[in-house]
Amino acid sequence: MKTLAIYSSKGGVGKTATAVNLSYTASTRGKKVLLCDMDAQGAASYYFRIRPRKKFSSKKLLNGRIGEFIRATDFDNLDLLPAHFSFRNLDLALDKLEGARRRQALRSLFSIFAEEYDVLVLDCPPNITLLSENIMVAADSVVSPVIPTTLSLVALEQLLKMFKKVGAEKGRLHAFFSMVEPRKIMHRDVIDKYSKYPIFRSTQIPYLAEVEKMGIYRQPVGAMSKSSRAAMQYSRLWAEIWSRSTVT
Ligand SMILES: Nc1ncnc2c1ncn2[C@@H]1O[C@H](COP(=O)(O)OP(=O)(O)OP(=O)(O)O)[C@@H](O)[C@H]1O
Ligand SMILES: [Mg+2]
Repeated sequence: MKTLAIYSSKGGVGKTATAVNLSYTASTRGKKVLLCDMDAQGAASYYFRIRPRKKFSSKKLLNGRIGEFIRATDFDNLDLLPAHFSFRNLDLALDKLEGARRRQALRSLFSIFAEEYDVLVLDCPPNITLLSENIMVAADSVVSPVIPTTLSLVALEQLLKMFKKVGAEKGRLHAFFSMVEPRKIMHRDVIDKYSKYPIFRSTQIPYLAEVEKMGIYRQPVGAMSKSSRAAMQYSRLWAEIWSRSTVT
């Protein structure tokens, strides 16, 4: 099993869209996928029309009671662990743990799925907290959408600092340009300047109405139309990231 965390400290950069569409693409390619919605806002769960069970909580999650809350989606090979409102307190709960467990709690919790799933995708909230550190430690690959603007680059710098702090290898980071609008000079300039860095994958996700429509149809883009531009780009992004994630 490989764990892919979709992470950026910046909000609204396309993390959830990426988590949902990469999970769906992986499942259509025969991988058994568990998408974990780690964001208390529950956007990934919303896209799959799944509500959390009231009885779920961050406490149960940290006690390893996860399996009973996993739900099947409408799609083969794709299961979801819905977010719960109490996940907003995950940081406080992690902070109460002692020693190495503070940073490694999520890694050991998710390890129980190693035989059951090929891919674990974590849709992360936009924070820089102990939860983010846990996510860095749990992930084999960290996938970070970057809108080609200066503020998104700041978030990427913060991520690199966190990688250093938790001792994660830079090779595990996959940044890509998200919500790209080529008619904007700033987007073109930032891409020209930064795409050469090895942390950037070559696939870009353009700003596309099809992605916005996920909120209306509540489906991954590939389920709405297999041959849409958005579906093709997420499919490419998946192939690029997966081929590198399986090397190590
Ligand atoms: N490539 C895209 N083209 C057009 N709209 C997009 C694209 N990617 C995401 N969006 C839209 O932008 C908004 C934010 O996207 P998304 O929820 O995926 O970001 P996020 O990083 O998960 O946000 P948050 O930090 O709040 O969790 C959503 O309305 C989504 O539909
Ligand atoms: Mg999100």
